[in-house]
Amino acid sequence: MGKDVIVACDFSSKQAVMDFLDKFTEEKPYVKIGMELFYAEGPSIVKEIKARGHKIFLDLKLCDIPNTVKKAMSVLSGLDVDMTNLHASGTIEMMQAALEGLTRPDGTRPLLIAVTQLTSTSEERMREQLLIDKPLDEVVMHYASNAEKAGLDGVVCSPLEAGKVHNRCGEKFLTVTPGVRFADGDIGDQVRVTTPEKAKELGSDYIVVGRPITAADDPVAAYRRCVAEFVG
Ligand code: C5P
Repeated sequence: MGKDVIVACDFSSKQAVMDFLDKFTEEKPYVKIGMELFYAEGPSIVKEIKARGHKIFLDLKLCDIPNTVKKAMSVLSGLDVDMTNLHASGTIEMMQAALEGLTRPDGTRPLLIAVTQLTSTSEERMREQLLIDKPLDEVVMHYASNAEKAGLDGVVCSPLEAGKVHNRCGEKFLTVTPGVRFADGDIGDQVRVTTPEKAKELGSDYIVVGRPITAADDPVAAYRRCVAEFVG
């Protein structure tokens, strides 16, 4: 599986994302479209970015009853995205239904990855609010294992967890990792960060990079630096 840099296009309008993508005249970066842009602009934004030649990770983190997720995934698959995701907390049954919905009549489908526990959920909140009385680490690995059992392709996790996930779920099980910053850059609101080079060493398959590229003075140069450090 080839490593790649996914650019988190966390913009609130089509105009803003297109102005950003217009800067890339040579490369066609893999683009992550999240809830903000998708809810603002609708499915047409996916089709338009795809038509410009970009691969797309549609980050909508689905979680509902299996039948509803299956039908929603079938719609997303029809948008011809390359990767999408859901919450592993929806159960193995929901993840299996999602895979069925995603699979196109010709047998192809987008990659499907799972969110384990959100990074905003602390061990204390998990225990007190969700009544999950186990170490966070163990819960993350257990949810990753459920995703693997359901037949998913991987999980979103910290680069610092990539090695553990591969040990538990196999080398082919993908680790898609946000929380990446340049050694000389601002960390912003991310807490546990690593550089693209370190993420490569730790075994990440895809790094998801937002502000270090989107907010850079020269986004194309920042993207190239990420690719050079991570892909080599
Ligand atoms: O700007 P930055 O590089 O922090 O963007 C990281 C992207 O990855 C954002 O779109 C953020 O929502 C997403 N993400 C994350 N941590 C997670 C899951 C997703 O930062 N655990």
